[in-house]
Amino acid sequence: MRRKIVAGNWKMNKSLAQGLQLFDDIINSPDHQQTNVLTIIAPSFIHLSAVAEKVKTNPNIAVAAQNCHHLSSGAYTGEVSAEMIKSAGAEYVIIGHSERRLYNNETIDLLIQKVNIALKNKLTPIFCIGENSDERHSNKHLEAIKSQLKDTLFHLSAIDFGKLIIAYEPVWAIGTGVTATSHQAQGMHNFIRAEINKKYGKEISEQITILYGGSCNPQNAKELFSCLDVDGGLIGGSSLKATDFISICNSF
Ligand code: PGA
Repeated sequence: MRRKIVAGNWKMNKSLAQGLQLFDDIINSPDHQQTNVLTIIAPSFIHLSAVAEKVKTNPNIAVAAQNCHHLSSGAYTGEVSAEMIKSAGAEYVIIGHSERRLYNNETIDLLIQKVNIALKNKLTPIFCIGENSDERHSNKHLEAIKSQLKDTLFHLSAIDFGKLIIAYEPVWAIGTGVTATSHQAQGMHNFIRAEINKKYGKEISEQITILYGGSCNPQNAKELFSCLDVDGGLIGGSSLKATDFISICNSF
């Protein structure tokens, strides 16, 4: 059975002290002791090693980086490699987030390299795909997602593909307060699973975790997570407050 996952993406928020406090508030809360859900926290790079140290022996909480560089090392001032992230104690890395595609001009070629180097360093990519609002309104959303899967991920071997977590994040829903309906989310998650089935077969398509992201909050998480093909969420804004995030973790 696929494990349920709730991942919090803090983006560029929280000082070192604020982040450590938020992390403690989440993991030490008596309301956050469920074992059926894997909680992943993606803080900024400055928090990584400190928070990873706190959860070393906890199988229900893990740590993700929000990005990694596409090359292994070298003269790239200000960058952080997959190997460095792994050495800080993180097990996961978010790749392909729409904000990075937009603000950092991350191209398909670059994303392919990032996925490859993350896997090579034994980090699990949480790979984001999602259509923009024009594609949704012109009914091209399925086509858009199909291309994103094919262009950025379908070069992988079945073994490597099976290691991924996919996050379906419609761009129009990220940080906008407009959430996909459960019908829209289930429809797309089911479509993604069907595309994976066509390429890699039933076993891998059934085993792969597909998260929903985009204005997921304590009010709508239960309905979204009740969908057959929605295995949890990638949470932005609502991951910045411990009570909201814990409430989402408890929404299965
Ligand atoms: P949001 O962000 O929950 O604030 O919409 C989600 C994300 O960007 O992963």
